[in-house]
Amino acid sequence: MADQDVHSPLVSEPTELPSLRWDEPPEGPVVVLLDQTRLPAEEVELVCTDVPALVRAIQTLAVRGAPLLGIAGAYGVALAAVRGYDVDEATALLAGARPTAVNLGYGVRRAADAYRAALQVDGDPQRAAGAALAAAVALHREDAEASARMAAHGLTLLDELLPGGAHRILTHCNTGALVSGGEGTAFAVALAAHRAGSLRRLWVDETRPLLQGARLTAYEAARHGMAYTLLTDNAAGSLFAAGEVDAVLIGADRIAADGSVANKVGSYPLAVLAKYHHVPFIVVAPVTTVDLGTPDGASVEVEQRAGQEVTEAVGGGGPVAPLGTQAYNPAFDVTPPELVTAIVTEEGVLSPVTAAALAELCAGARQVRIG
Ligand code: MRU
Repeated sequence: MADQDVHSPLVSEPTELPSLRWDEPPEGPVVVLLDQTRLPAEEVELVCTDVPALVRAIQTLAVRGAPLLGIAGAYGVALAAVRGYDVDEATALLAGARPTAVNLGYGVRRAADAYRAALQVDGDPQRAAGAALAAAVALHREDAEASARMAAHGLTLLDELLPGGAHRILTHCNTGALVSGGEGTAFAVALAAHRAGSLRRLWVDETRPLLQGARLTAYEAARHGMAYTLLTDNAAGSLFAAGEVDAVLIGADRIAADGSVANKVGSYPLAVLAKYHHVPFIVVAPVTTVDLGTPDGASVEVEQRAGQEVTEAVGGGGPVAPLGTQAYNPAFDVTPPELVTAIVTEEGVLSPVTAAALAELCAGARQVRIG
């Protein structure tokens, strides 16, 4: 298998659009998103002037990925507050937009709590709206900081587990700057290895059915000049069997109290493969993704998405199955803790993954947020 080819970006002159930003044009404040449904073909911004538009963007995956969903949720509450919409209604709409990533509810709650606390002080809704916006900005900044710390911890762990460098890392879904205030979670670790000269190859699962790997991770890897190769999800088994994978790095949408990890569907089969082939399976996620209120994997609500995403080609490319075909389309799956070698957070590395160690990590975290 060739190691030397570094792919070029599909977009020839990529801009540096952030995945999400707050803007205040004369017509009123807005949340501006880089529309991830249009990547990699086009870098197009989506301007949300109200909460229903932001909820639609979340549900269609124009904005996606656990940490960014939290940030989007917080800015959504601020948008409602600043524009004078009903904040309670906005809070419920945003928090209920997608069920699995715990960060969404966390971000919404954080901005809503800041709004209500400020309102209680003097009843001034403008000042309270300012507090909600400040909470969103703080969360955005903290996520960037957490991302940098996860990358550093993850790189140290990789070097410990795989001395000698030249890592061949397999990743699934998309976990880079597109889902983060910073450089992401699992992807940030691979990027740190690339910068340190220790990444030999990033294997990128295409991630059926919405192709977050092919469309988004490959796009990010190309922009950074990383040596990467795209594979169909089904090809991972033969790649492991050929001894071409040194470690798996994935993100998480929710980590239950027992250490079970909910992440993009297809993560669990990778964990099984990794166990069989004695390859480390490493989860990288901020502490905000740990939900001690969810006791175990069976308690995680897994989002079920429309069957059309499976029976039709992504991007409106037409049917790939006979009309009327029923499809099973869970957006996530759950990996039990015994298959996870380590969980890397901004507060440090957890290995082995046990309920007690996870509780201790959360209790000791600077910004512990439970429930
Ligand atoms: O359905 P998506 O695209 O929002 O799913 C995203 C994932 O599963 C990511 O792997 C997860 O959110 C971790 S992102 C740091």
